[in-house]
Amino acid sequence: MSAEGMILPKICEDARVLHQRSPMAGIYDLTLSAPTIARSARPGQFVEVTVPHGGALLRRPLGIAETSAEEGAIRIIYRVVGRGTELLAAAGAGEMISVLGPLGHGFNVTYRHPLLVGGGMGLAPLLFFAAAHGSSSILMGGRTKAELFWEALFRPHVRAVHATTDDGSYGIEGFVTALLPKLLQEGDYDAVAVCGPPIMMERVAQMTASFSLPCEVSLERRMACGLGACLSCAVDTRSGRRKVCKDGPVFSAEEVYSNVL
Ligand SMILES: Cc1cc2nc3c(=O)[nH]c(=O)nc-3n(C[C@H](O)[C@H](O)[C@H](O)COP(=O)(O)OP(=O)(O)OC[C@H]3O[C@@H](n4cnc5c(N)ncnc54)[C@H](O)[C@@H]3O)c2cc1C
Ligand code: FES
Repeated sequence: MSAEGMILPKICEDARVLHQRSPMAGIYDLTLSAPTIARSARPGQFVEVTVPHGGALLRRPLGIAETSAEEGAIRIIYRVVGRGTELLAAAGAGEMISVLGPLGHGFNVTYRHPLLVGGGMGLAPLLFFAAAHGSSSILMGGRTKAELFWEALFRPHVRAVHATTDDGSYGIEGFVTALLPKLLQEGDYDAVAVCGPPIMMERVAQMTASFSLPCEVSLERRMACGLGACLSCAVDTRSGRRKVCKDGPVFSAEEVYSNVL
């Protein structure tokens, strides 16, 4: 079901760390007990997480990578890039973390066979999409084979996994854009959803447009309030200035890229 147009409740939940592991150096896979958020979250939405031990004033935005309504849990997969994520990575089982969410508008998950295209940590929200949809395919890109630890996470949820690595250590050598035209040519996809580095998303959106398929992109901006009140995440679109936290993070590609029609 699409979250577009729905008014969803924003909940501030004291979430308990259930477990946290590191699938590769610098990347963390965190599961939190947050039953209310787990019940209402939609693929593409995110949460704002308090940095533990008062380590920073502002919460940090992180995509929801999966939910389990039965276990009342949400999963977050993130890269340590600064103080906030460093302190979060040190949180152990049983620690309490305040989580605000679910925030923003997510992906349209009503397509028959969407192709998900992700690179780096952009694969996190796409994992939620894949798990909720159950019949998508994924094209994932990473610098090396080790960066594609994601494959095992996606495999149970998707029809097919396609992979590229910059160094050719796994899948096709090159960026996702090296393989995308062939997939769009030969596959029966009816939409593309993309999340990753900005240049990758724009190229994927252009290629998808040349196959006359709808494309949604998930944008990332520095955020403060996460609720549409401070304008720190503003982005210019065809329909004027929009807020990534409230109007996005998921937008249609033609709305945000002037060279995509
Ligand atoms: C909607 C949304 C969803 C996100 N989902 C994920 C996710 O699922 N997994 C994940 O690993 N990361 C995700 N991010 C990015 C994450 O929010 C930042 O990496 C995090 O806030 C950094 O906090 P920090 O205190 O560790 O780093 P800081 O000390 O705040 O910053 C360290 C460095 O990272 C850069 N940086 C911080 N935040 C951003 C940002 N939003 N965009 C670009 N550069 C940034 C800073 O410029 C600086 O160079 C998401 C961001 C947004 C807006
Ligand atoms: S982060 Fe405040 S308006 Fe988006």
